[in-house]
Amino acid sequence: MNISVMVSGGGTNLQALIDRVADGSIPDARIALVLSSRDGVYSLERARKASIKTVVISKKDYPDEEAKTDAILAALAEEGTDLVVMAGYMIIVSPRIPRAYAGRIINIHPALLPRHGGPGYYGLHVHEAVLAAGDTESGATVHYVDDRGVDSGEIILQGRVPVLDGDTPEILQQRVLTVEHRILPEATALVLQKL
Ligand code: GRF
Repeated sequence: MNISVMVSGGGTNLQALIDRVADGSIPDARIALVLSSRDGVYSLERARKASIKTVVISKKDYPDEEAKTDAILAALAEEGTDLVVMAGYMIIVSPRIPRAYAGRIINIHPALLPRHGGPGYYGLHVHEAVLAAGDTESGATVHYVDDRGVDSGEIILQGRVPVLDGDTPEILQQRVLTVEHRILPEATALVLQKL
């Protein structure tokens, strides 16, 4: 099964997928493509080290959203993508993409959806919101991406961590990332088994 991973940044979630595919934890799978929204990010380096094809598709290179979406869909199709995994992809995609990959596109979000999700809830903002709300626990969610909204699809897996006294957004982010790196490969294997 061909997995294409969409990224925008450092790629620690991508690395978790690379490692779990390499050790056989995600059976019958290969990462066929890493598609980044930005050039010069470490995700691309991680892919190159693992001899995985990379492509950068960024807004500035296309006249409009439609043309950029066409390019994304073409790149995914070219690799025979069976499953799209959004792993730190920071751009809201056109609904054309989850429609083309209904039931075959997942995303990881660094909070316990439905809490602290939706537009504007990305990166440190998520953890700031968790702390501001006084939540005593947080975690991560892997969900299907649908065409109804941001972070709105059916939940596949969640992992929980405590929020501790003295937590800063950065400390909480690191604790949540350790859960992300576990549940994203697990969810990927679960979804692939159903395809
Ligand atoms: C992760 O916290 C992920 O949940 C969020 O963006 C971050 C990406 O981190 N979507 P990385 O690029 O995988 O290290």
